[in-house]
Amino acid sequence: MESVILDWLNLVVRWTHVITGIAWIGSSFFFMWLDAHLEAPGPGKEGVEGELWMVHSGGFYEVNKFQAVPTAIPRTLHWFKWEAGFTGISGLILLAIVYYLGAEAFLIDTDVADLTRLQAVAIGVGTLVVGWFAYDGLFASRFGQQNMLIANTISVIVLCLVAVGLSQLFTGRAAYVHVGALVGIVMVINVFVRIIPAQRNLIAARNAGDEPDPTLGKRAKQRSVHNNYLTLPVVFIMISSHYPMTFGHPQGWFLLIAISISGALVRHWFNLRNASTLAIWPIPAAVVIFIAVAAWASLPTLQAERSAASAEAVSFSKVRSIVDARCIVCHAARPTYEGFDVAPKNIRFDAPAEVRKHAAAIKKTTVDTNTMPLGNVTEMTNEERQLLGGWIRAGANIELAK
Ligand code: HEC
Repeated sequence: MESVILDWLNLVVRWTHVITGIAWIGSSFFFMWLDAHLEAPGPGKEGVEGELWMVHSGGFYEVNKFQAVPTAIPRTLHWFKWEAGFTGISGLILLAIVYYLGAEAFLIDTDVADLTRLQAVAIGVGTLVVGWFAYDGLFASRFGQQNMLIANTISVIVLCLVAVGLSQLFTGRAAYVHVGALVGIVMVINVFVRIIPAQRNLIAARNAGDEPDPTLGKRAKQRSVHNNYLTLPVVFIMISSHYPMTFGHPQGWFLLIAISISGALVRHWFNLRNASTLAIWPIPAAVVIFIAVAAWASLPTLQAERSAASAEAVSFSKVRSIVDARCIVCHAARPTYEGFDVAPKNIRFDAPAEVRKHAAAIKKTTVDTNTMPLGNVTEMTNEERQLLGGWIRAGANIELAK
């Protein structure tokens, strides 16, 4: 009962999160594009830095970008912040629904670290809170302002260490999502605490006839640049839960860092292109990193498959007993594991044909990676994983007589 309601709540919150996330990223991409395509203003346009014309859905639009805060601020001025705000709020609710209410299955893996639910949730929430204050403190400090390159380097290194650290404490998937949540939260709070206030300050100063404080503008710009480079990595992290070969890899943190770097490189290429620089190098660099890391991560699996190809066939009765012991508590028409009312993803192993049908997915989650059983709650052994692998490689035969 409870889990049925949670599933629906999960759906509506995730839906909201994706919609608001698209709106946020979409508007930020759009403004980047606008900035890059402005042309010198025509004659008679006082104070205009650039202009451009667009046509969309049968309507023609003219945009003027002003050099400074215009002398008369129009009564209706559109701000762009609620896309970010709702993405952040819905993301945190989703984090709580999936990983904190479902901590035993999704957050904690006692093979990784023997944490209680309270400890694990405290580490998760603590990472987000401490992470924001450390980041903001660094970049708000005189040191961070004066040594941007060093501060950027430090923050990237610390973020990598957070990824390594969390992977020693949580399930791979929860470690990934917490790194993504930290980055996402930093981006959202940047908008509300550093970027929007700087813009308000500009307007207030203009209204009062004062000169705006340039440090606020400079700081806001720095935070915008951070948000810009973090966008593609954070989107990768958010979709990574569909790919057990990433978060489920023994060095999943390394894949997270490397793929995020390739995302940031692609973003860098966008920025160069928007700045009308034709440099293309970030794209091949991103592709090389991505391919190298994909090859590095999958080679052992491919080798293991080849060397085990000739191993003795595993009987289905053996497989049946493993699945019954390790999977069926959740993956059955009527799961018995607490908090599961229906089989997750409708994957059920009640009948032999169903086990066979999901053989490829079983290999991905249970043999090539240890992402199933969730949090290894049923304490599956490596030997059992190898047996399942042998059975699948030999053709996933379900004839009991064999
Ligand atoms: C504690 C409950 C639990 C146990 C035990 C469990 N699973 Fe799962 N399984 C889940 C949940 C929950 C999901 C859905 C995960 C998600 O939302 O992405 C899932 C998803 C899957 C998927 C689909 C993965 C995908 O990415 O589409 C497969 C395949 C799978 N499980 C196989 C197994 C096998 C094989 C076992 C036993 C070795 C097992 N599971 C044990 C809870 C469990």
